[in-house]
Amino acid sequence: MTAAELFDRLAIPIIQAPMLGASGPAMALAVTQAGGMGSLAAGALAPEDIVEQVAGLKAATDRPFGVNLLIARPATPDPEAVAEALERLAPWHDRLGIDLPAPPNDYAPDFDAQFAALLAAAPPLASFTFDVLTRDQVAALQAAGTLVVGTATTVAEARAWAGVGADAICAQGGEAGGHRGEFLKPGPESLIGTMALVTTIQAAVDLPVIAAGGIMDGRGVAAALSLGAVAAQMGTAFLLAEEATISKPWRGRIETAPDDSTAVTRAFTGRHARGIENDFMRALRPVEGEVPAYPVQNRLTRELRAAGGRLGDAEVLSLWAGQGVSLTRAGRAADLVKAWWEEARAVSAALHARTHGPERDRR
Ligand SMILES: Cc1cc2nc3c(=O)[nH]c(=O)nc-3n(C[C@H](O)[C@H](O)[C@H](O)COP(=O)(O)O)c2cc1C
Repeated sequence: MTAAELFDRLAIPIIQAPMLGASGPAMALAVTQAGGMGSLAAGALAPEDIVEQVAGLKAATDRPFGVNLLIARPATPDPEAVAEALERLAPWHDRLGIDLPAPPNDYAPDFDAQFAALLAAAPPLASFTFDVLTRDQVAALQAAGTLVVGTATTVAEARAWAGVGADAICAQGGEAGGHRGEFLKPGPESLIGTMALVTTIQAAVDLPVIAAGGIMDGRGVAAALSLGAVAAQMGTAFLLAEEATISKPWRGRIETAPDDSTAVTRAFTGRHARGIENDFMRALRPVEGEVPAYPVQNRLTRELRAAGGRLGDAEVLSLWAGQGVSLTRAGRAADLVKAWWEEARAVSAALHARTHGPERDRR
C-alpha cells in the first residue's frame, strides 16, 4: 500500500502526534480504533519495549498506526562542559531540595538498536524527526512493509527526505508544540507557519504531505485538508485527553494556559522546543544558547523535571504545548477525534455553501 492509499482509507484523516512523555500505547490504540491514526512515541523506549508495544498494537487492531523515533547520534560531551551545565542547574535542584546528579554515562538511547527493533517489529508506518535517515535505512523499512514518514520544518528538509526515498512528509509548522524537528538550519530559522510550510513543500516535492502545528479542532482539520494535506497531525489538542500521560502540574498549566503563553526555548534539552513559558525558561533565556546540545542537556535536566512533576512544581517542567494550547479540550481521545471530524465536516459543508450556494450566484 502507498502512503497516499493508507491516508485515503483512514475513516478519519487525523493523526494523533507521537508525544514522548505525554502519550503511550493506550492513546495510540484509542485513536486508531476510533478511525484516525494513532502514533506510538518510541523515542525513549528500549529496543525490547519497541518490539513488545508494536506487537501489542498489532494484536489489538488491524488498522494502521505509526511508531516514532528521534534520530540522535551518540553524545560524548566534554566533561568540563557537563560540569558547567550541571552547575547552572544547581540552584534549581536546591529549590526542590534534591541532589544534583552525577555526570551520566549515557545521554540517549542507542538509535541503531532502536532502529533494528523497529525494523523487526515492522509497524505499518514509522515516522522520524531531528534528522534524516539514509537511503538504505528507508529501503530496509519499506522492504519490511513499513511506510516511512520524515518530519520537515523547511522545504530543504522535505527535499532531503524525498531524496532518501521517504513515502510521505510531515510538515511541522512553527506553531507546533514540543521539539522542533529541524536538522538543516538553526531552530529560529526553521519556524515557518503551517500554512506556508504545507503549501511550499507540496510545490517542491511529489509526496503526500501531513500538516502539523496549531491544529486544535475541526476548523484546523478542514483547513489542513483544504491546503491539500492528506491528514492533520494533532499533538497539543490531545494533551487533556484521558489517555494523556502528563504530570498533574503540567495538566494544570494546560487547563489554564492563556492564548499567548508559549515560547520556543532550548534551555531544557539543548534543542529548540515550544512550551508554556515558566520560570526556568525565563531564567535561562540569557544563556540558553550556551547549554550543551541535545541530547546532553535533555539528560542533565531529566531528574530535575521528574522531581518537578512529583513535587508539583510546574516552574521547572518542560511544559511542551503549541500555540493553540488555550483551545485544548478534555475528553476521551476517541471522542475528541470523532468530534473534530464532525466539526470538520460541518465546516466543509458551510464552506461549500459559501462557495457554491445560490447567494454566491446572486452577487
Ligand atoms: C508534548 C509533546 C511531545 C511531543 N513529542 C514528539 C515526539 O516524541 N516525536 C515527534 O516526532 N514529535 C513530537 N511532538 C511534536 C508533534 O509530533 C507535532 O509536530 C506537534 O504536536 C504538532 O503541533 P500541535 O502541538 O500544535 O498540534 C511532540 C509534541 C508535544 C506537544
